[in-house]
Amino acid sequence: MRTKALLNWKYGVEEALIVDNKLALVNPEIASLDQVKNPEAYIWLLTCGNLDYHKEILRSVQQLVPENQILDLFAHLPVYSEKYHLLSKLGSPEGETVSWPCREFLELVSRKKNERKTITVAEIGVGWGATSVEVCRRLHKEDVYMCFDFEDVVEGLLHDLGMVPGICCQVTGKGNSHRACDSYSWSLSELLFEMRNRHQDGIFDIAFLDGSHTFLHDASACCLLKELVKPDGYLIFDDVFWSCAEANRELYQEWEDLYTKEQLHDYQVQRVIDAFMTGDRRFQQVYMTQSLNPSRAVYRKTDL
Ligand SMILES: C[S@@+](CC[C@H](N)C(=O)[O-])C[C@H]1O[C@@H](n2cnc3c(N)ncnc32)[C@H](O)[C@@H]1O
Repeated sequence: MRTKALLNWKYGVEEALIVDNKLALVNPEIASLDQVKNPEAYIWLLTCGNLDYHKEILRSVQQLVPENQILDLFAHLPVYSEKYHLLSKLGSPEGETVSWPCREFLELVSRKKNERKTITVAEIGVGWGATSVEVCRRLHKEDVYMCFDFEDVVEGLLHDLGMVPGICCQVTGKGNSHRACDSYSWSLSELLFEMRNRHQDGIFDIAFLDGSHTFLHDASACCLLKELVKPDGYLIFDDVFWSCAEANRELYQEWEDLYTKEQLHDYQVQRVIDAFMTGDRRFQQVYMTQSLNPSRAVYRKTDL
């Protein structure tokens, strides 16, 4: 629905009909495929990006209308076979919310590659590797991609990235345990100490913080990343307006013993930004979309 709303807004298109077999059961304004009387009277815009359903839907529509009446917005969905530990989950119902790469990160990689011969980038929280794989594709042999997540996740990602054809950058990762109070912050602090021992002023040209979305882990991660980002480097925060309460019921139940009600309802990434980014004159917010209050906040470290 979001893709559809965006298209309508961008191209001034208004659909004659919305077809979705599942939603048709609960929403009278939406039709199921069998309810469409003259399918050949329409241009069909396929807006389903879920790998599991995409092919099935495409096949059904192909049975009703000629190929040239179908505009498939997700015709180029990448498909990773079962031999990939994490990447194979991209587009599956379980990985649906983390199947798309962070566009701001990709755009900044291109910008930085135009400015510098070699860059080092970091992703903190990798999910199923949707962003990782696209970032690594854009990096060259001498560039470095570093990832931080739980040990098993990092292991899976390193395995997968080593198998993706065309990835030639240096890939490293540091995992942490699944203990409730452990996180990537510990690994980042070790990196900070190494950086100081080497008298370096920053390691990362771009760092993307997309981990637990909790103040507990991300407050320290943010403070560490502010030091680890090089002058003129970028720090990206994902899901500024994410709250456990709005995100998902299962997680809410799991976290009820760990956090207060207020914390479960709060936008904790926003809280991190308010506490440590807003008002820090070393960092300037960069707006990469039309929104002045974007759900992904990007900051550039100045030379101050
Ligand atoms: C939203 S996903 C990241 C999505 C990814 N950046 C992308 O663009 O596809 C969040 C990730 O944070 C990781 N994470 C959450 N809490 C963590 C913790 N305490 N320690 C390490 N990793 C954690 C999860 O394992 C998950 O892989």
